[in-house]
Amino acid sequence: MREFILKASLATTANFSLNDLPGAGRMDVICRSINSAFWISDGLRKNTKMYIVLEGKPNPSLTIELDSSKIKRFSPDERNIASHIKIAINKFNELRGIVESEPGVIIMERNFKELISSKHENTQLIYLDPSGVDIREFRFKENFCCILGDHIGIDEKTKNLLDKLSVEKISVGPNVYLSSTVIAVINNELDRRGI
Ligand SMILES: C[S@@+](CC[C@H](N)C(=O)[O-])C[C@H]1O[C@@H](n2cnc3c(N)ncnc32)[C@H](O)[C@@H]1O
Repeated sequence: MREFILKASLATTANFSLNDLPGAGRMDVICRSINSAFWISDGLRKNTKMYIVLEGKPNPSLTIELDSSKIKRFSPDERNIASHIKIAINKFNELRGIVESEPGVIIMERNFKELISSKHENTQLIYLDPSGVDIREFRFKENFCCILGDHIGIDEKTKNLLDKLSVEKISVGPNVYLSSTVIAVINNELDRRGI
């Protein structure tokens, strides 16, 4: 199973308009990242989980867990992906607790630190950063999870937390790339290795 965590530092935790995804705390960045994580040309990957940590107002932090093998009626365009996130946020705000808003989509109150802590013991946590080890030299373990920032990146406090937990750092190249591009490169590397 491939796993990704996207720390979306401004993403709204309230209802939002599908006509203004950038205005919803850069929901467009999130949707493009989900697209890169889940889709190949002829359909959905069957082996990928993605966690989106929504840290924007008014109700931070919510985590949405998406499982590519279970989601239904998703298509790769940003607006469609955003519509499923909107449903999840609205259902959470109505029901609270741990809510399965649709098959393969679970939303709950959980912040980044709590999410990382829940995975730390059984999963190889990997932080994506240009200063890390070249992905081409990197050894992935059986269970791994790749952590990325959004357009703003990972703040210093979070970097310190990741360092404290000895989270490994890998780079996908010499430039600072879009989150969605980084995910596409990781998926490509894993595909080439047959992981
Ligand atoms: C658009 S970038 C963030 C830009 C932000 N201004 C910064 O400097 O951190 C989004 C995320 O992609 C990842 N990233 C970008 N370039 C990378 C690279 N060359 N190698 C590994 N990860 C990278 C990082 O996790 C980053 O937080």
